This record gives sequence, structure tokens and C-alpha cells, in this order.
Amino acid sequence: MKQSPPRLATRLAGIEPFHVMALLARAKELEAQGRSIIHMEIGEPDFQTPQPIVDAALKAVAVGDMHYLPALGMPALRAAIARDYGARYGVDVSPSRIVVTPGASGALLLAVAALVGSGDRVLMTDPTYPCNRHFVRLMEGEARCLPVDADSHYQLTPELVRNHWDARTVAVMIASPANPTGTLIDPATLAVIADEVRGRNGALIVDEIYHGLTYEGDAPTAVALGDDVFVINSFSKYFGMTGWRLGWMVAPETLVPAIERVAQNVFLAASTPAQHAALAAFTPQTREVLEARRRAFRTRRDDLVPALAALGFDIAVKPEGAFYVYARCDRFGIDSFALANELLERAGVAITPGIDFGEHRAQQHVRFAYTTSLDNLREGVRRLGEFLSNR
Ligand SMILES: Cc1ncc(COP(=O)(O)O)c(C=O)c1O
Repeated sequence: MKQSPPRLATRLAGIEPFHVMALLARAKELEAQGRSIIHMEIGEPDFQTPQPIVDAALKAVAVGDMHYLPALGMPALRAAIARDYGARYGVDVSPSRIVVTPGASGALLLAVAALVGSGDRVLMTDPTYPCNRHFVRLMEGEARCLPVDADSHYQLTPELVRNHWDARTVAVMIASPANPTGTLIDPATLAVIADEVRGRNGALIVDEIYHGLTYEGDAPTAVALGDDVFVINSFSKYFGMTGWRLGWMVAPETLVPAIERVAQNVFLAASTPAQHAALAAFTPQTREVLEARRRAFRTRRDDLVPALAALGFDIAVKPEGAFYVYARCDRFGIDSFALANELLERAGVAITPGIDFGEHRAQQHVRFAYTTSLDNLREGVRRLGEFLSNR
């Protein structure tokens, strides 16, 4: 008897893949054929995990106590994260508000699971980090992706929140620095948004995963805006630990028991070796390595942004953080998806088309990631220039 596969849940129809993955697969295929490819599509640091963090993991694994840790995280790590808010931002946070998770992804999922029910709406930007709308969809909620442009640094404004909040809205999600634009939200604007949301009994979720990777000084943390704000962070980007899958959330104290119940059921706990490793993330030795990398990213940004502008890409807001440049490309008379594909095939440069981040002017934008060496970036720009002048 011919068997048909099990039927998927209808909510799966709203979960899109990362389009750039198809591009990455093609890039690998071309590399396997011997072609040289410059990767400017990758959203993770090219640097390895700092050695003190690796050493801490090896030591812990050698001792061998690799059992489950508490669902909210290892107490020593929760305390270390809380202490770092004091040291870095001068903000007092109780370790009891820290929830250690499998990456910022785990933290975002827990926050959305705790807040969003069927039919509930969540406001976020378009363009945005695509997983956020998918987390909301998984909870049977509805992401309202509000078009934003350079004039608001691609961030939400209090007016947008006021104008789009309705009876079904429960939360606002913001990332600063943001992916794909690398832009920061103005702290005073964020404070007004926090008040707007608070006044409507809603929740504000602020993703600070790219904190530490800001190039005009440190950004203040949204933790300072009040005990009711959800702040997401991770060891992935600044700390160079993407593959370890470890992040955290600072949650409102009274909601921690509910979040703990969800974490117990969904994850049991975040990775034990990764948590031991992360204990070494806040030491002066590690900090020194990370700050040198921050300077390297800044140098790359300062090299790449003017070089792209000289080729005719319109970069309306200087990216102040993360490792992305969001550039307008419609001047070249080609849709960004076609541009990314043609550029890969003909010039061996991989970039991410705007479609991965939403619908608003997606065909007119591409994202460049400076997660490769300065030499590679310069070669990428050279190839890009040649490609554009031959079209
Ligand atoms: C804005 C943003 N938030 C969250 C994540 C998830 O990161 P992770 O789960 O590795 O901590 C990413 C990854 O690219 C991101 O760009």
C-alpha cells in the first residue's frame, strides 16, 4: 500500500527557511569544484572561541561530572552573569533573574512561550532577525512586522508602537544592535517605548546579543529600564561561542518560576560543558582577547563601509554594531536576490539578500557580514567592483 507521509501541523506553513542557506550550499558546491569564494554572508565570528574558555571546558570535562544542571542554569554562572551587569553597565541585577538557555535562541523561545498565546500579536521591525516572527508563529501568535527605514535607524519608534498596538497585542521585540542592519536604538527612544508598553500591560523584549560588538563605545543595557523588561543575550557573538549553544535572559523576577517550568519541559537544561566553559568568559584574560577582536571588527567595518559606498551601495545609516552592513542596491537595476545569486556564480562572493529579513524593500537591500579577514573583505570588494563594472 502506498503510504503518504504524516500530515504537518498547519503552523509549519508559516515557518520559512533561511534563504541564504541555499546560497551557502551553492557556495560550498562551487568551492568543492575548486572555485574561490569570499564569504560575506556568514552571521558568526570567524574567530575561534578564546583559549581560556576552551581550557575551562576541557578541565571540567576531564573531571567528568557532566550531569544535568538546574533548568535555570548553574548557580555559579547565573551569579557571574549578574556580576557582569554590575561591572560592565553599573546595573544591579539579582542572579535569581538570570535564566541560562541554549543560545539566545532558547531565551527568545522561552520568552515568547511565556508571553504569547493563540492569536496574540507581537510588534517587531521589518527588516528583522527572521526567527523572531517564527517563534511567535510557533506559539500560534501573529508577528506584526512594521516597516522601518534609515530615518529611525531601522528601529521601532514610540509612534509605531502606539499606532499599531491593539487589543490583541501583548509584546514588542527589539534588537539593538540589530541584525541585519547593525544599528542601535537610541536609549531615550527605547525608554519611551518601555513606558508605552508598560502602560498597556505589555512586555518588552530587548535582544542584546550583539552587545560588546559596538564600535562607538558601549551601549547601555535595557536591564536598567526596569525590572519588567526581558533582556536577551548570548555567549555566541561577542564571546565567540556560537557552537556551544549558550545564552541567557534577564527576566522579571515574578515570572521566573513560570519560565523555569517551560525550560524544564522544553530543554531540561542548557549544556553542562558549555556552562562550565562560560565561567571563564568574564575573566580579564578572556576580556583582553575579546576586546582585541572588537577592535578588529571595527577596523573591518571602517574599511568596508566606505569601499561599498564608493561602488555605489547606499548605506544610509552607519552601522554602529554587530558585524553587518545593510546596503541598498537598487541603483544597479537588479533585484537583491538575483544580485546575490549572480554575484556568487560570476564573481565568487557570497552575500545575503534582503528577503531573509522580511518584505519591506527586501528586493532593494543586501546584507554584507564582515566575519572574514580584512584581506578577504578587500578581495570581495575588488571582485564586486569588477562584477558591477562588467554588467
Ligand atoms: C539578533 C539575533 N538574535 C538571536 C540570535 C541567535 O543566536 P544564538 O542562539 O546563537 O545565541 C541571532 C543569531 O544570529 C541573532 O542575530
